[in-house]
Amino acid sequence: MAANEMSGDVYYPSEDIVNNAHIPDYDSVNDKAVADLTGFWDEIAKENFEWYAPWHTTLDDSNAPFYKWFVGAETNIVHNALDRHMHTATRNKAAIIFEGEGGDERIITYHQLNRLVCKFSNVLRDQGVVKGDVVTIYMGNIPETAVAMLACAKIGAMHSVVFGGFSSEALLGRIEDSKSKMLITCDGAWRRGKIVDLKAMATVAAEKSTSLEKMIVVQRTNHDVEMKDGRDFWYHDLMADASDKSETARLSSEDNLFILYTSGTTGRPKAILHTHGGYMVYTATTLKWVFDLKDEDVWWCAADPGWITGHSYIVYSPLVNGATSIMYEGTPDYPTPERWWQLVQKYGITILYTSPTAIRGLMKYGSELPKKYDLSSLRLLGSVGEPINPAAWKWYYEHVGNSKAPIMDTWWQTETGGFMMTPLPSVPLKPGSATRGFPGILPDVVDKDGNSVKPGEEGTLVIKGPWPSMLRTIYGDDERYLKQYWSEFKEQGWYCPSDSAKKDEDGYIWVIGRQDDVINVAGHRLGTAEIESALVSHPAVAEAAVVGLPDDVKGTIVKAFCIVNQGNETTPELGEALRAHVGKEIGAIAKPASVAFVDSLPKTRSGKIMRRVLKAQELGEDVGDLSTLAD
Ligand code: PRX
Repeated sequence: MAANEMSGDVYYPSEDIVNNAHIPDYDSVNDKAVADLTGFWDEIAKENFEWYAPWHTTLDDSNAPFYKWFVGAETNIVHNALDRHMHTATRNKAAIIFEGEGGDERIITYHQLNRLVCKFSNVLRDQGVVKGDVVTIYMGNIPETAVAMLACAKIGAMHSVVFGGFSSEALLGRIEDSKSKMLITCDGAWRRGKIVDLKAMATVAAEKSTSLEKMIVVQRTNHDVEMKDGRDFWYHDLMADASDKSETARLSSEDNLFILYTSGTTGRPKAILHTHGGYMVYTATTLKWVFDLKDEDVWWCAADPGWITGHSYIVYSPLVNGATSIMYEGTPDYPTPERWWQLVQKYGITILYTSPTAIRGLMKYGSELPKKYDLSSLRLLGSVGEPINPAAWKWYYEHVGNSKAPIMDTWWQTETGGFMMTPLPSVPLKPGSATRGFPGILPDVVDKDGNSVKPGEEGTLVIKGPWPSMLRTIYGDDERYLKQYWSEFKEQGWYCPSDSAKKDEDGYIWVIGRQDDVINVAGHRLGTAEIESALVSHPAVAEAAVVGLPDDVKGTIVKAFCIVNQGNETTPELGEALRAHVGKEIGAIAKPASVAFVDSLPKTRSGKIMRRVLKAQELGEDVGDLSTLAD
């Protein structure tokens, strides 16, 4: 069965799971939250977090959709993620357990992490970083990435993490867009036994940038790199002299925490803005309730800190909860497809949160590999990034979770900051559905007039109300924020995530996929416009269109259609060169799986490329209504 097909199977949690869960009864908590949303969050925020000064208004909706939460409060997410744990037993607990691709291991306690963050915050201050500055972070999946993020937050600077798989051009675009003056990077990152030379790419970006002044370089791979005097500094040199005493900045709840770029429908990625107070409260609460986080858990979110999943659920919310978070540098199948199962056994991991792509990738090696290891510590599993097809869900459930660990399929976005639709451990599961809203979240599936669709009908997913960790705007572009997320159902004031979905008789929601020109490859968002503009920046290409096609492992792969400029031969070598060119412009994740050369592209009379026609042709499907086709 394909993803999104509504399956009839229901999996009920064991009595043991229900009785031990933080929230044993979804309905009563959800009813309470829906009846009094602000009262609900007010109570949670007061009971579970420390604030330097209280708020006077829980939710300010007077200038909606520019919502504000915990207005008037003073806090800093780092106070809750680190400072407050220095007075409890958490101080001596492992905050981050890091394992490198090659098997090197580092266990960093809360005390040690705090010390590193204090020192690095002083380094940043010494280098002239002040509140409100944007610091770009371009690193691998190593503890220093978390240290850098937390150090920025501690002094009130915003971080902008750029995934280490992006190219120097993509990095440059994000540095320039955010006018970032400081970059933190590594000499290199380990990837399948080879070094990805992040410093070399950072240098290319730095040399072209009009805003960047300084670069701090963490040593990871120890290969030779070029350092420019006065611009480039070694992290270890600066850290050696830095004081480990550092005050956490007293910020307002609505002060900016970070921006994170994500793909949209234009060629220009959007800088999604999150703030301290609401993001802290929502991400920490969702992690605690959905994954039933307890003091003794070993939590593994197998994402990269370069994406929102890593920001919210590797770095911030586990630390705010005082949990132990695993960080693994490598890919699931290197040097062996047993790597993940080795880690689960070695560290006694109790909760594993990953993507359908990773599950399908491991599933193809068969169920013998997970069987070789003791995975009995796992008590809960999670999935994120794309719809999970029931076959992968069932494999994960049976062979990884030993048919006893429920799977939390969490639907959310960079924009939402935290889980929006998700089961809780006590909720009956249906493979392929992210079930219903987190308590207080009101998702619905509607037609274009905003009427709820009937069970089984496809419609547009909307969220009917604000939540604490919602994006505050697109940094520097309020207009685009309004247009992108709030214009489709402006009258009703609903948030529109650009996903299509169905609902079933029980009110469970089944996400189908993106409605806009965004392709979800292996759980990563890529804009068709971004890839097309990379293709046409190659001198051989006159016009380009890309579409997403179904793939057994990655969910979706990219196929490109190009019209070449006269005088260019449409050879396989050119196809390869274009794939490499996209890799250089954006990053390897955006490389088309294949490139086809065509004489024309289907367009509307107004000149808009009809990608759905190309896609239908590729899939041998009915091309549908062609009345707007020009030719
Ligand atoms: O289409 C949805 C899909 O991923 C999009 C958000 O992508 P991004 O901002 O990169 O964040 C990914 C990780 C939170 C959504 O609009 N998506 C995410 N999770 C799910 C999903 N689709 C179906 N089921 C999910 N659990």
